[in-house]
This record gives sequence, C-alpha cells and structure tokens, in this order.
Amino acid sequence: MPSTVLVGTQWGDEGKGKITDLIASDFDYVVRFQGGNNAGHTVIHGDTKLALHLMPSGVMYENAVPVIGNGVVIDPGVLVKEMALLEAEGISCERLKISCDAHVIMPYHKVLDGAEEKRLGNNQIGTTKRGIGPCYQDKIARKGIRVQDLLDEKIFRLKLETALQQKNAVLQKIYGLQTYTVEEICDEYLPYARILKPYMAETAHMLNSALSQGKNVLFEGAQGTLLDIDHGTYPYVTSSSCTSGGACTGAGVGPVAVDRVLGISKAYVTRVGGGPFPTELKFAEDGGSGQDAIDGALLCEAGHEFGVTTGRKRRCGWFDSVIARYAAEVNGLTDIAMTKLDVLSAFDTVKVCVAYECDGERYDYFPMQQSVLFHAKPVYEELPGWKGCDITGCKTYDELPANTRAYIEHLEDITGVPITIVSVGADRDQTIMRGWE
Ligand code: IMP
Repeated sequence: MPSTVLVGTQWGDEGKGKITDLIASDFDYVVRFQGGNNAGHTVIHGDTKLALHLMPSGVMYENAVPVIGNGVVIDPGVLVKEMALLEAEGISCERLKISCDAHVIMPYHKVLDGAEEKRLGNNQIGTTKRGIGPCYQDKIARKGIRVQDLLDEKIFRLKLETALQQKNAVLQKIYGLQTYTVEEICDEYLPYARILKPYMAETAHMLNSALSQGKNVLFEGAQGTLLDIDHGTYPYVTSSSCTSGGACTGAGVGPVAVDRVLGISKAYVTRVGGGPFPTELKFAEDGGSGQDAIDGALLCEAGHEFGVTTGRKRRCGWFDSVIARYAAEVNGLTDIAMTKLDVLSAFDTVKVCVAYECDGERYDYFPMQQSVLFHAKPVYEELPGWKGCDITGCKTYDELPANTRAYIEHLEDITGVPITIVSVGADRDQTIMRGWE
C-alpha cells in the first residue's frame, strides 16, 4: 500500500474513523499530524465501543506503529486516560511514539478557550473548548510548552512560570477568572511526564528512515478541509492545517513521501459549530421551515448526527459539489471514499448542489469572499432516490440499486475524482471497494 494522506473533505465528521480503521492494517505507521482531542472517532473492539480522541487508529493493529506527530497539540491528561482505557481492553500502547516537538495543552488553554467563546457571544466559533486554539496561539507566538519540556522539570517550571505571568494577568484582568500557580500545574503535569517519557521520540527522523526503507505510512487527518486554518471558512475553523499539506509539516516529511491523497466525503454534508454552510437544511428549532426542516431532521436522525466529542447535534445539508471540487484542488485528492450512502435511502429524491447563486451571480467554484458563502443560495440538481431499497447489505458495486450507482457516478463526474471506496453502514464489512487497493 503506497503512503497515503487521509483527509476530511467537508467540515469534519465525514466518517474518517471507519475508513482509517479499515485501511490502517495495510500500513507500517499511522500518524496523527494535526489537531488534538477536538477530534473523536469510535472504534469497535470485540463487543466494546471505544471513543478515541488523540490516539492514532494504528494502535488497534499490532503491525502498525501509532505516531503522534509534531503538528498535534496534546492534552497529556487525555492521552494518559486513553492509554489506560485501551490497556484495560487488552490493547497495547507499547508501540506508541510521541513527537518531542508537539505542543502541550495546559489547563489555562482550556479555560481561555471557554472564556473567549463566552466573550464572543453571538459571534462565537462553537469550539470544542478543549484548549486547541489557545495552545496553537502560543505555538505560533513562540510561547508554547512542548512535549520535550516535560523531560526536564527545571525547564518545565521555568517555561511555566514565564507563561503564567502573562496568562494569569489575562485570566484575572480580562476575564475575571481564577489564576494558576506553578505548583498546582506541576502537581498535575509532572506525573503525566513520567508516564509519557518512554513514548517520546524523534518521530520525523523515525518516519523518514522508515520511508527510505520502503515502509508505508498512513497520515491520518482530523477535522476537515473547510475547518483548515488557511483553506477553511475562516474564522469558523479550527487552528491547524487539516488539508493534505499539513501532513508534511505536521509529521516532518517532504511532499514526495505522499503517494496518494484519500478524501473522505459523506454522501451529504454536516457541520458543528458556527459559520457559513450553503446547503444547510435548518432544523425547525434553528429557524428552518417547510420541506427543508423536514429533510434536515431526517438526515440528522437517519445519520445519527451527534458529535462523538461533544454530543452536539450536527447541522445537516445536501451534498455540495462546490466544496467537494475545492477540497479536490486544495488537497490534490487522488481518491474519494464516500461514506453513509445508506442514510440517503430515507429520501424519495436526493439533491446535489452544483453551484451557488448570490446577488444574481453564479459561482461554480468556491467564492473568494466569505460574505458570498454566507448569503449563497445553492443551485440544486434533483436525482431519483432509492427509497425502500436497503443497501446496507450490498457487498459489491453491482448489487447497489441503479439509482444509487447513478448518484455515485454523477458525483464522480462533477467532482472529477474517482470514488474508490463506498460505505453503506457503520461496520467494516459494509464497505464496497471500487478500485482502492
Ligand atoms: P476547536 O477545534 O475546538 O477550536 O473548534 C473550532 C471549530 O472546529 C468548531 O466549529 C468545532 O466544532 C470544529 N471542530 C473541531 N474539531 C472537530 C471535529 O473533529 N469534527 C467536526 N468539527 C470539529
């Protein structure tokens, strides 16, 4: 299996976890390269469902080395808990490697995340309040604390002291919140440091050596293209590079290390948090009405669209080929895995957005100005559905109803990317391979 970057092509929650889990056993290394425990996916181990937020999926396969790359932000308390949970289930975390250059989420990052959201009021981003943004802010401002700082108590205390001088002032004077002492953070974090020390490694060197020996690497993206700090719907984004380029900086490999870019795309679209979403079918409680509110509620219910990390109800809408084409470009997609196709079996007809309209102008490509995206009206094509056909048991492409195949092939045509994996249910065996090898 050639080295592959796997990315979300929408606003996250595309079903990356299932596809990663499906293909991870073909790789020697599985690397998280951005984000932190704002991500979340469920893996099935025997009869148990495990919710993972930080641990790379490779931990589930003995042949694969799970790696947390330098581009990730790590909440050590969450990681230690996740490791204990996995070990209790008999899943060994022994092979885990953690980059010494990854940044550490501190207690004040989490508090500041929540406080800043509160301050923004109606303009809030809808973050996961896991401290992701404030931690990346410190990284870019060159004030962050890295995993390697945990190796030396003296350095850790010194950096923490410097950070707290500023953080405590902000917490107290801007937000009227409680401050922290060096001692209380050390009491919590130094035991984590002792637990995590054996797993710390120079992961960029390790991966490059492995690649030069012909080993294969899966770079496992979290969130999605439209949440990317550069290419997403800024400022309603996360603070990291979720697109394929982020795999290089977030793992420390050159672009030639990547042979394939697999985009994960739901057969419809969802988003959590604020920000523009042209094909949104607003729920009645959010001001939606008529058929749109009915269709939105049906997508949410049939698709079980509730966040793994936050439990929040996700906003739902029809497939948007404008963002799909954009994702194909900014990621250089070579393949698409289409997930949750079975959810559309609930509809008589299915709609696909082919362009936007705003102020009398038609947009076939992602508009340059965010305000257009906010006011864009989707231009839809309506395709015949396959209501009444249960596709969850289909094992081959030819077993799918003709209208389902027509939908897939139409999306291939309008996105320009081959759909080589089709998922028709949550289980591993509810997947149709269509050219992905
Ligand atoms: P943050 O990543 O917690 O800073 O949140 C920023 C935005 O990204 C918010 O709209 C979140 O809802 C969204 N977000 C972050 N992680 C995920 C994810 O894994 N799936 C979907 N949305 C996410």
